[in-house]
Amino acid sequence: MAWLLLLAGAALLAPAAASEVTAEEEQLFKAWMLQHGRRYGVGEYERRLRVFVGNKRHIEGHNAGNSSFQMALNQFSDMTFAEFKKLYLWSEPQNCSATRGNFLRSDGPCPEAVDWRKKGNFVTPVKNQGPCGSCWTFSTTGCLESAIAIATGKLLSLAEQQLVDCAQAFNNHGCSGGLPSQAFEYILYNKGLMGEDAYPYRAQNGTCKFQPDKAIAFVKDVINITQYDEAGMVEAVGKHNPVSFAFEVMSDFMHYRKGVYSNPRCEHTPDKVNHAVLAVGYGEEDGRPYWIVKNSWGPLWGMDGCFIAGGGAGKAPEPLL
Ligand SMILES: *[C@@H]1O[C@H](CO)[C@@H](O)[C@H](O)[C@H]1NC(C)=O
Ligand SMILES: *[C@@H]1O[C@H](CO)[C@@H](O)[C@H](O)[C@H]1NC(C)=O
Ligand SMILES: *[C@@H]1O[C@H](CO)[C@@H](O)[C@H](O)[C@H]1NC(C)=O
Ligand SMILES: *[C@@H]1O[C@H](CO)[C@@H](O)[C@H](O)[C@H]1NC(C)=O
Repeated sequence: MAWLLLLAGAALLAPAAASEVTAEEEQLFKAWMLQHGRRYGVGEYERRLRVFVGNKRHIEGHNAGNSSFQMALNQFSDMTFAEFKKLYLWSEPQNCSATRGNFLRSDGPCPEAVDWRKKGNFVTPVKNQGPCGSCWTFSTTGCLESAIAIATGKLLSLAEQQLVDCAQAFNNHGCSGGLPSQAFEYILYNKGLMGEDAYPYRAQNGTCKFQPDKAIAFVKDVINITQYDEAGMVEAVGKHNPVSFAFEVMSDFMHYRKGVYSNPRCEHTPDKVNHAVLAVGYGEEDGRPYWIVKNSWGPLWGMDGCFIAGGGAGKAPEPLL
Protein backbone atom coordinates (compact mmCIF):
# COMPACT_ATOMS: atom_id res chain seq x y z
CA MET A 1 0.00 0.00 0.00
CA ALA A 2 1.27 3.40 -0.69
CA TRP A 3 0.26 6.92 0.08
CA LEU A 4 1.34 10.30 -1.03
CA LEU A 5 0.14 13.81 -0.97
CA LEU A 6 -0.23 16.11 -3.88
CA LEU A 7 -0.84 19.58 -2.69
CA ALA A 8 -2.82 22.49 -3.95
CA GLY A 9 -4.22 25.83 -2.80
CA ALA A 10 -6.85 28.45 -2.00
CA ALA A 11 -9.31 30.93 -3.53
CA LEU A 12 -13.08 30.77 -3.62
CA LEU A 13 -15.16 31.80 -6.58
CA ALA A 14 -18.69 32.66 -5.55
CA PRO A 15 -21.09 32.04 -8.43
CA ALA A 16 -21.88 35.28 -10.21
CA ALA A 17 -25.09 36.86 -8.98
CA ALA A 18 -27.69 36.00 -11.59
CA SER A 19 -29.50 39.30 -11.77
CA GLU A 20 -32.05 38.44 -14.42
CA VAL A 21 -32.85 34.80 -14.89
CA THR A 22 -34.14 34.10 -18.40
CA ALA A 23 -37.13 31.85 -19.10
CA GLU A 24 -34.80 29.32 -20.74
CA GLU A 25 -32.61 29.26 -17.64
CA GLU A 26 -35.60 28.65 -15.40
CA GLN A 27 -36.76 25.85 -17.72
CA LEU A 28 -33.30 24.32 -17.53
CA PHE A 29 -33.39 24.53 -13.73
CA LYS A 30 -36.80 22.80 -13.60
CA ALA A 31 -35.53 20.01 -15.86
CA TRP A 32 -32.43 19.71 -13.66
CA MET A 33 -34.63 19.50 -10.53
CA LEU A 34 -36.63 16.70 -12.10
CA GLN A 35 -33.51 14.85 -13.19
CA HIS A 36 -32.02 15.05 -9.69
CA GLY A 37 -35.26 14.63 -7.72
CA ARG A 38 -34.98 18.03 -6.00
CA ARG A 39 -37.89 19.86 -4.32
CA TYR A 40 -37.75 23.19 -2.51
CA GLY A 41 -40.08 25.43 -0.53
CA VAL A 42 -41.01 28.77 -2.13
CA GLY A 43 -38.21 30.95 -0.72
CA GLU A 44 -35.68 28.16 -1.14
CA TYR A 45 -36.67 27.72 -4.80
CA GLU A 46 -35.80 31.32 -5.64
CA ARG A 47 -32.47 31.09 -3.86
CA ARG A 48 -31.53 27.74 -5.46
CA LEU A 49 -32.56 29.03 -8.88
CA ARG A 50 -30.15 31.96 -8.50
CA VAL A 51 -27.29 29.73 -7.34
CA PHE A 52 -27.96 27.30 -10.18
CA VAL A 53 -27.99 30.03 -12.82
CA GLY A 54 -24.79 31.52 -11.37
CA ASN A 55 -23.13 28.10 -11.66
CA LYS A 56 -24.49 27.55 -15.17
CA ARG A 57 -23.14 30.88 -16.44
CA HIS A 58 -19.79 30.28 -14.79
CA ILE A 59 -19.57 26.85 -16.47
CA GLU A 60 -20.47 28.33 -19.87
CA GLY A 61 -17.84 31.03 -19.45
CA HIS A 62 -15.21 28.48 -18.50
CA ASN A 63 -16.05 26.17 -21.41
CA ALA A 64 -15.90 29.06 -23.90
CA GLY A 65 -12.33 29.78 -22.77
CA ASN A 66 -9.16 27.90 -23.62
CA SER A 67 -8.95 25.52 -20.67
CA SER A 68 -7.51 22.00 -20.67
CA PHE A 69 -10.68 20.73 -18.97
CA GLN A 70 -14.42 21.13 -19.43
CA MET A 71 -17.04 21.77 -16.78
CA ALA A 72 -20.71 20.72 -16.76
CA LEU A 73 -23.84 20.88 -14.64
CA ASN A 74 -24.12 17.92 -12.26
CA GLN A 75 -25.79 16.86 -9.01
CA PHE A 76 -24.02 19.69 -7.12
CA SER A 77 -25.25 22.55 -9.33
CA ASP A 78 -27.74 24.08 -6.86
CA MET A 79 -24.98 24.60 -4.28
CA THR A 80 -22.42 27.35 -3.78
CA PHE A 81 -18.85 26.13 -3.32
CA ALA A 82 -19.01 27.17 0.34
CA GLU A 83 -22.05 24.92 0.85
CA PHE A 84 -20.44 22.12 -1.11
CA LYS A 85 -17.27 22.35 1.00
CA LYS A 86 -19.22 22.04 4.21
CA LEU A 87 -21.02 18.87 3.11
CA TYR A 88 -18.45 17.01 1.04
CA LEU A 89 -14.96 18.12 2.05
CA TRP A 90 -13.03 18.03 5.30
CA SER A 91 -14.27 20.80 7.52
CA GLU A 92 -10.73 21.30 8.85
CA PRO A 93 -7.74 20.91 6.54
CA GLN A 94 -5.72 17.86 7.56
CA ASN A 95 -2.04 18.32 8.27
CA CYS A 96 -0.25 15.82 6.06
CA SER A 97 3.30 16.80 6.86
CA ALA A 98 3.48 14.23 9.66
CA THR A 99 3.69 11.50 7.03
CA ARG A 100 7.24 10.22 6.90
CA GLY A 101 8.31 8.53 3.68
CA ASN A 102 9.54 4.93 3.75
CA PHE A 103 9.10 4.11 0.08
CA LEU A 104 12.23 2.51 -1.37
CA ARG A 105 12.89 3.17 -5.04
CA SER A 106 13.95 0.27 -7.21
CA ASP A 107 15.97 0.06 -10.40
CA GLY A 108 14.48 -0.45 -13.82
CA PRO A 109 12.16 1.69 -15.89
CA CYS A 110 8.50 2.28 -15.04
CA PRO A 111 5.83 1.56 -17.63
CA GLU A 112 5.18 4.61 -19.84
CA ALA A 113 1.48 4.50 -19.03
CA VAL A 114 -0.72 2.51 -16.66
CA ASP A 115 -4.47 2.29 -16.15
CA TRP A 116 -5.35 -0.26 -13.48
CA ARG A 117 -9.03 -0.03 -14.51
CA LYS A 118 -8.11 -1.60 -17.85
CA LYS A 119 -5.40 -4.07 -16.83
CA GLY A 120 -7.86 -6.52 -15.32
CA ASN A 121 -10.51 -6.69 -12.61
CA PHE A 122 -8.50 -4.61 -10.15
CA VAL A 123 -10.61 -1.52 -9.38
CA THR A 124 -14.07 -1.56 -7.78
CA PRO A 125 -16.83 0.60 -9.32
CA VAL A 126 -16.80 4.26 -8.25
CA LYS A 127 -18.65 4.70 -4.93
CA ASN A 128 -20.50 7.68 -3.48
CA GLN A 129 -19.52 9.19 -0.13
CA GLY A 130 -22.67 11.35 0.02
CA PRO A 131 -22.80 14.44 2.26
CA CYS A 132 -20.08 13.29 4.72
CA GLY A 133 -16.39 14.27 4.73
CA SER A 134 -15.38 10.61 4.49
CA CYS A 135 -13.41 10.73 1.24
CA TRP A 136 -10.37 9.46 3.18
CA THR A 137 -12.20 6.17 3.88
CA PHE A 138 -13.00 5.68 0.16
CA SER A 139 -9.44 6.50 -0.83
CA THR A 140 -8.29 3.89 1.70
CA THR A 141 -10.73 1.10 0.74
CA GLY A 142 -10.10 1.78 -2.96
CA CYS A 143 -6.35 1.37 -2.46
CA LEU A 144 -6.70 -1.77 -0.33
CA GLU A 145 -9.32 -3.31 -2.66
CA SER A 146 -6.97 -2.86 -5.62
CA ALA A 147 -3.85 -4.04 -3.76
CA ILE A 148 -5.67 -7.23 -2.69
CA ALA A 149 -7.09 -7.81 -6.18
CA ILE A 150 -3.64 -7.44 -7.75
CA ALA A 151 -2.10 -9.81 -5.18
CA THR A 152 -4.83 -12.47 -5.05
CA GLY A 153 -7.08 -12.01 -8.09
CA LYS A 154 -10.06 -11.45 -5.79
CA LEU A 155 -11.80 -8.05 -6.00
CA LEU A 156 -13.54 -7.35 -2.67
CA SER A 157 -15.63 -4.33 -1.72
CA LEU A 158 -14.56 -3.04 1.72
CA ALA A 159 -16.35 -1.17 4.51
CA GLU A 160 -15.82 2.61 4.59
CA GLN A 161 -18.32 2.85 7.46
CA GLN A 162 -16.03 0.82 9.73
CA LEU A 163 -13.33 3.46 9.19
CA VAL A 164 -15.85 6.27 9.79
CA ASP A 165 -17.05 4.64 13.04
CA CYS A 166 -13.91 3.01 14.46
CA ALA A 167 -10.64 4.69 13.39
CA GLN A 168 -10.65 7.72 15.77
CA ALA A 169 -7.67 6.50 17.82
CA PHE A 170 -5.51 7.11 14.72
CA ASN A 171 -6.39 10.81 14.47
CA ASN A 172 -9.36 10.29 12.15
CA HIS A 173 -12.68 12.07 12.63
CA GLY A 174 -15.41 10.17 10.77
CA CYS A 175 -17.46 12.49 8.56
CA SER A 176 -15.25 15.40 9.65
CA GLY A 177 -12.10 14.10 7.99
CA GLY A 178 -9.09 11.84 8.31
CA LEU A 179 -6.11 10.64 6.32
CA PRO A 180 -5.63 7.40 4.35
CA SER A 181 -2.15 6.90 5.89
CA GLN A 182 -3.78 7.00 9.34
CA ALA A 183 -6.63 4.74 8.20
CA PHE A 184 -4.10 2.15 7.00
CA GLU A 185 -2.41 2.29 10.41
CA TYR A 186 -5.83 1.65 12.01
CA ILE A 187 -6.50 -1.40 9.79
CA LEU A 188 -2.98 -2.71 10.51
CA TYR A 189 -3.30 -2.47 14.29
CA ASN A 190 -7.02 -3.30 14.42
CA LYS A 191 -6.27 -6.53 12.55
CA GLY A 192 -8.73 -6.19 9.74
CA LEU A 193 -11.51 -4.52 7.85
CA MET A 194 -14.98 -5.94 7.16
CA GLY A 195 -16.71 -6.10 3.78
CA GLU A 196 -19.19 -3.54 2.41
CA ASP A 197 -22.10 -6.05 2.72
CA ALA A 198 -21.37 -6.90 6.35
CA TYR A 199 -20.85 -3.25 7.38
CA PRO A 200 -22.87 -1.07 4.96
CA TYR A 201 -22.11 2.60 4.31
CA ARG A 202 -24.46 5.17 5.92
CA ALA A 203 -22.79 8.53 5.17
CA GLN A 204 -22.95 9.63 8.82
CA ASN A 205 -21.00 9.19 12.06
CA GLY A 206 -21.93 6.11 14.05
CA THR A 207 -20.74 3.83 16.83
CA CYS A 208 -18.16 1.16 16.05
CA LYS A 209 -19.68 -2.21 15.13
CA PHE A 210 -16.52 -4.06 14.12
CA GLN A 211 -16.76 -7.84 14.43
CA PRO A 212 -13.26 -9.41 14.29
CA ASP A 213 -14.52 -12.75 12.93
CA LYS A 214 -16.01 -10.90 9.94
CA ALA A 215 -12.80 -9.13 8.90
CA ILE A 216 -11.90 -9.99 5.29
CA ALA A 217 -9.05 -7.58 4.48
CA PHE A 218 -5.78 -7.05 6.31
CA VAL A 219 -2.78 -4.73 6.06
CA LYS A 220 0.74 -6.15 6.42
CA ASP A 221 2.68 -2.97 5.86
CA VAL A 222 1.98 0.70 5.17
CA ILE A 223 4.25 2.46 2.71
CA ASN A 224 4.28 6.26 2.83
CA ILE A 225 5.77 8.15 -0.09
CA THR A 226 7.72 11.26 0.86
CA GLN A 227 5.81 14.46 0.20
CA TYR A 228 6.59 16.03 -3.21
CA ASP A 229 8.14 12.75 -4.47
CA GLU A 230 5.95 12.50 -7.56
CA ALA A 231 8.48 10.22 -9.30
CA GLY A 232 8.14 7.85 -6.33
CA MET A 233 4.38 7.91 -6.80
CA VAL A 234 4.78 7.09 -10.51
CA GLU A 235 6.92 4.11 -9.56
CA ALA A 236 4.44 2.95 -6.90
CA VAL A 237 1.46 3.14 -9.27
CA GLY A 238 3.42 1.77 -12.24
CA LYS A 239 5.03 -1.19 -10.48
CA HIS A 240 2.79 -1.92 -7.50
CA ASN A 241 -0.80 -0.73 -7.17
CA PRO A 242 -3.08 2.33 -7.09
CA VAL A 243 -2.00 4.93 -4.50
CA SER A 244 -4.03 7.09 -2.11
CA PHE A 245 -3.25 10.80 -2.14
CA ALA A 246 -4.76 14.08 -1.01
CA PHE A 247 -5.01 17.56 -2.51
CA GLU A 248 -7.03 20.73 -2.10
CA VAL A 249 -10.32 20.90 -4.00
CA MET A 250 -10.93 24.35 -5.50
CA SER A 251 -14.29 25.76 -6.64
CA ASP A 252 -13.94 24.84 -10.34
CA PHE A 253 -13.40 21.17 -9.44
CA MET A 254 -17.00 20.79 -8.20
CA HIS A 255 -18.29 20.97 -11.80
CA TYR A 256 -15.37 19.15 -13.50
CA ARG A 257 -16.65 17.10 -16.43
CA LYS A 258 -13.66 15.92 -18.49
CA GLY A 259 -10.16 16.79 -19.68
CA VAL A 260 -6.94 17.44 -17.83
CA TYR A 261 -7.73 19.28 -14.60
CA SER A 262 -5.29 21.84 -13.30
CA ASN A 263 -5.56 25.12 -11.47
CA PRO A 264 -2.75 27.70 -11.49
CA ARG A 265 -3.82 29.04 -8.08
CA CYS A 266 -2.73 25.81 -6.38
CA GLU A 267 -0.39 26.08 -3.44
CA HIS A 268 2.06 23.39 -2.39
CA THR A 269 1.84 23.06 1.37
CA PRO A 270 0.70 20.01 3.34
CA ASP A 271 -1.73 21.88 5.60
CA LYS A 272 -4.03 22.80 2.70
CA VAL A 273 -5.40 19.43 1.62
CA ASN A 274 -9.17 18.87 1.94
CA HIS A 275 -9.88 15.79 -0.17
CA ALA A 276 -8.40 12.29 -0.56
CA VAL A 277 -8.69 10.21 -3.74
CA LEU A 278 -7.01 7.27 -5.49
CA ALA A 279 -4.48 7.43 -8.33
CA VAL A 280 -5.35 4.44 -10.56
CA GLY A 281 -3.02 5.26 -13.44
CA TYR A 282 -0.93 7.80 -15.28
CA GLY A 283 0.16 8.69 -18.78
CA GLU A 284 1.48 11.48 -20.95
CA GLU A 285 -0.19 13.60 -23.62
CA ASP A 286 1.71 16.08 -25.80
CA GLY A 287 4.66 15.75 -23.43
CA ARG A 288 2.53 16.63 -20.39
CA PRO A 289 2.23 13.97 -17.67
CA TYR A 290 -1.16 13.31 -16.12
CA TRP A 291 -2.77 11.17 -13.44
CA ILE A 292 -5.94 9.07 -13.78
CA VAL A 293 -7.80 9.44 -10.50
CA LYS A 294 -10.78 7.63 -8.95
CA ASN A 295 -13.05 9.94 -6.96
CA SER A 296 -15.89 9.06 -4.53
CA TRP A 297 -18.71 11.36 -5.68
CA GLY A 298 -20.61 8.65 -7.61
CA PRO A 299 -20.39 7.67 -11.30
CA LEU A 300 -22.37 10.71 -12.53
CA TRP A 301 -19.62 13.17 -11.58
CA GLY A 302 -16.66 13.83 -13.95
CA MET A 303 -15.61 11.05 -16.32
CA ASP A 304 -17.70 8.15 -14.99
CA GLY A 305 -16.68 9.22 -11.49
CA CYS A 306 -12.98 9.67 -12.32
CA PHE A 307 -10.84 12.65 -13.35
CA ILE A 308 -7.58 13.37 -15.13
CA ALA A 309 -5.18 15.62 -13.24
CA GLY A 310 -2.19 17.41 -14.72
CA GLY A 311 1.07 15.97 -13.39
CA GLY A 312 3.62 18.09 -11.56
CA ALA A 313 1.14 19.36 -8.96
CA GLY A 314 3.08 17.55 -6.24
CA LYS A 315 6.36 19.33 -6.76
CA ALA A 316 7.87 21.24 -3.93
CA PRO A 317 8.14 25.03 -3.96
CA GLU A 318 11.12 26.17 -6.06
CA PRO A 319 14.28 26.00 -3.96
CA LEU A 320 16.08 29.31 -3.38
CA LEU A 321 19.48 29.09 -5.06
C1 LIG B 1 -4.90 27.56 -25.95
O1 LIG B 1 -4.15 26.68 -25.10
C2 LIG B 1 -3.12 25.99 -25.78
C3 LIG B 1 -2.51 24.98 -24.83
O2 LIG B 1 -2.46 25.46 -23.52
C4 LIG B 1 -2.10 27.00 -26.31
O3 LIG B 1 -1.08 26.33 -27.00
C5 LIG B 1 -2.81 27.97 -27.24
O4 LIG B 1 -1.91 28.98 -27.66
C6 LIG B 1 -4.00 28.62 -26.53
N1 LIG B 1 -4.76 29.43 -27.48
C7 LIG B 1 -5.21 30.63 -27.16
C8 LIG B 1 -6.03 31.30 -28.22
O5 LIG B 1 -5.02 31.14 -26.07
C1 LIG C 1 1.89 19.90 10.75
O1 LIG C 1 2.61 18.83 11.39
C2 LIG C 1 4.00 19.04 11.42
C3 LIG C 1 4.67 17.76 11.95
O2 LIG C 1 3.95 17.19 13.00
C4 LIG C 1 4.31 20.27 12.27
O3 LIG C 1 5.70 20.49 12.31
C5 LIG C 1 3.60 21.47 11.64
O4 LIG C 1 3.78 22.59 12.47
C6 LIG C 1 2.11 21.21 11.47
N1 LIG C 1 1.53 22.32 10.71
C7 LIG C 1 0.35 22.86 11.01
C8 LIG C 1 -0.11 23.96 10.13
O5 LIG C 1 -0.32 22.48 11.97
C1 LIG D 1 3.06 6.46 7.65
O1 LIG D 1 2.21 7.55 7.97
C2 LIG D 1 1.41 7.31 9.12
C3 LIG D 1 0.46 8.47 9.28
O2 LIG D 1 1.11 9.71 9.23
C4 LIG D 1 2.32 7.16 10.33
O3 LIG D 1 1.54 6.90 11.48
C5 LIG D 1 3.26 5.99 10.09
O4 LIG D 1 4.18 5.88 11.15
C6 LIG D 1 4.02 6.16 8.78
N1 LIG D 1 4.76 4.94 8.52
C7 LIG D 1 6.07 4.92 8.30
C8 LIG D 1 6.68 3.58 8.14
O5 LIG D 1 6.73 5.95 8.23
C1 LIG E 1 -17.89 12.68 13.78
O1 LIG E 1 -17.21 12.07 14.86
C2 LIG E 1 -15.92 12.63 15.15
C3 LIG E 1 -15.29 11.86 16.28
O2 LIG E 1 -15.33 10.53 16.00
C4 LIG E 1 -16.05 14.08 15.54
O3 LIG E 1 -14.76 14.64 15.72
C5 LIG E 1 -16.76 14.84 14.41
O4 LIG E 1 -17.00 16.16 14.82
C6 LIG E 1 -18.09 14.16 14.06
N1 LIG E 1 -18.59 14.81 12.86
C7 LIG E 1 -19.89 15.02 12.63
C8 LIG E 1 -20.23 15.68 11.34
O5 LIG E 1 -20.76 14.70 13.42
